[in-house]
Amino acid sequence: MPTHLRFRRRSFLGLLFLFSLSTSALYFIYSAPGVVNEYVFMVQARGIQIRENVKNIGAQVLEQVVRGAYSNNGTDYAYDFNVSESDAPPTTYLPEGFTYLPSQVCPERLLSMKGRLEVNMSEVSLEEVERYLLEGEPQMASGGYWKPKDCLPRWKVAILVPFRNRHEHLPILLRHLVPVLKKQRLQFAFYFIEQEGMEPFNRAMLFNVGYKEAMKDLDWDCLVFHDVDHLMENDRNYYGCTDMPRHFAVKLDKYSYMLPYNEFFGGVSGLTVEQFKKINGFPNAFWGWGGEDDDLWNRVRFANYTVSRPQRDEGRYKSIPHHHRGEAQFLGRYSLLRHSKERQKVDGLNNLNYSPLVSRRPLYTNITVNLSRMLAPVADY
Ligand SMILES: *[C@@H]1O[C@H](CO)[C@@H](O)[C@H](O)[C@H]1NC(C)=O
Ligand SMILES: *[C@@H]1O[C@H](CO)[C@@H](O)[C@H](O)[C@H]1NC(C)=O
Ligand SMILES: *[C@@H]1O[C@H](CO)[C@@H](O)[C@H](O)[C@H]1NC(C)=O
Ligand SMILES: *[C@@H]1O[C@H](CO)[C@@H](O)[C@H](O)[C@H]1NC(C)=O
Ligand SMILES: *[C@@H]1O[C@H](CO)[C@@H](O)[C@H](O)[C@H]1NC(C)=O
Ligand SMILES: *[C@@H]1O[C@H](CO)[C@@H](O)[C@H](O)[C@H]1NC(C)=O
Repeated sequence: MPTHLRFRRRSFLGLLFLFSLSTSALYFIYSAPGVVNEYVFMVQARGIQIRENVKNIGAQVLEQVVRGAYSNNGTDYAYDFNVSESDAPPTTYLPEGFTYLPSQVCPERLLSMKGRLEVNMSEVSLEEVERYLLEGEPQMASGGYWKPKDCLPRWKVAILVPFRNRHEHLPILLRHLVPVLKKQRLQFAFYFIEQEGMEPFNRAMLFNVGYKEAMKDLDWDCLVFHDVDHLMENDRNYYGCTDMPRHFAVKLDKYSYMLPYNEFFGGVSGLTVEQFKKINGFPNAFWGWGGEDDDLWNRVRFANYTVSRPQRDEGRYKSIPHHHRGEAQFLGRYSLLRHSKERQKVDGLNNLNYSPLVSRRPLYTNITVNLSRMLAPVADY
């Protein structure tokens, strides 16, 4: 979930771009082409909101970006900015005709991973997706567990998806992602964690709940924290974990395929179970949208991890359009973020109580939970 974003306008037709003014502050200008002034908003990654006038500096950059974006014919990823990505050598994929054995660990880069994926956002019923995905997959029944048979899965991945009032997105995500994960030869299952009750949406606490419930099922070793409306555009974006926490959703269509700010950790991210335990999970205190992903970033950094990201266009995503349907922004996030370090020890996996309702569907586990502040008391820090 994007954070620190303050939209003056709701329109998503414009372009978003960024430029760095100092190492600690990153700003955005969100702009419909040609209408720079009206649509300025900015982001400050460190929690202090600065409303300076950056229009003039932006004009030239804007022109370049607009030209760049529109000279792209839409057939290729023509514009790819070198924004805070380490330049690793290009991925090599297995040669044609490569075979692997059931006794071997599955390769990470398979020929069947072709790169760019079509994204189908049309609405579909859960029943139809169940029929479509379970055809010829009887072993997938109940809970949506799957693992490859022709090799040993490299990772056992629990996909955790928090949501509320978004039932129509679930089948779209499953229809899109299940075939990809099979191609990537991962062992996986989906956990949808739905928040009940009247409290503001608490994405982070739902992830903590999902994690605890998933671990009761199976000894997962990799966790993917996934927004329900994010659909990957490249099947080489491998959903296994790495020795460092991973940020998968690097380039979102709604931010013109650019990383909003270097510390952005929202949308889709992944940690090994070991890493997640070490950082005490997500904070529970972020009620309403925004901030919790920045806190996770801080936790990861305090544990001396550095976040890894997919290269180039592998981290592209489309998001299913929607509004925050009455979900409130969390305005208290800046003051919490200032104390990320102290809070990490007292708020997370270790102070969380809850009573979920768990049921299995053919393609996922349904975890429904009422959340309230009383469930995660925070000791003084
Ligand atoms: C776009 O397409 C036109 C004609 O198909 C071609 O001449 C032009 O070089 C293409 N531009 C880019 C940036 O690929
Ligand atoms: C990105 O940076 C690398 C080295 O810093 C350079 O070789 C490469 O051409 C750049 N790519 C683009 C698209 O500018
Ligand atoms: C999208 O999915 C629906 C139902 O799952 C299907 O009928 C439709 O043909 C798909 N569209 C594309 C462009 O693949
Ligand atoms: C992180 O590194 C710093 C400096 O090397 C060290 O002082 C600190 O103890 C490390 N923190 C953790 C959690 O390992
Ligand atoms: C999950 O279970 C609850 C309670 O039975 C139900 O109301 C809800 O519709 C289910 N959600 C999903 C996504 O299956
Ligand atoms: C949540 O609370 C409501 C009202 O107290 C109750 O009806 C519902 O069963 C609860 N749901 C869960 C999953 O505990």
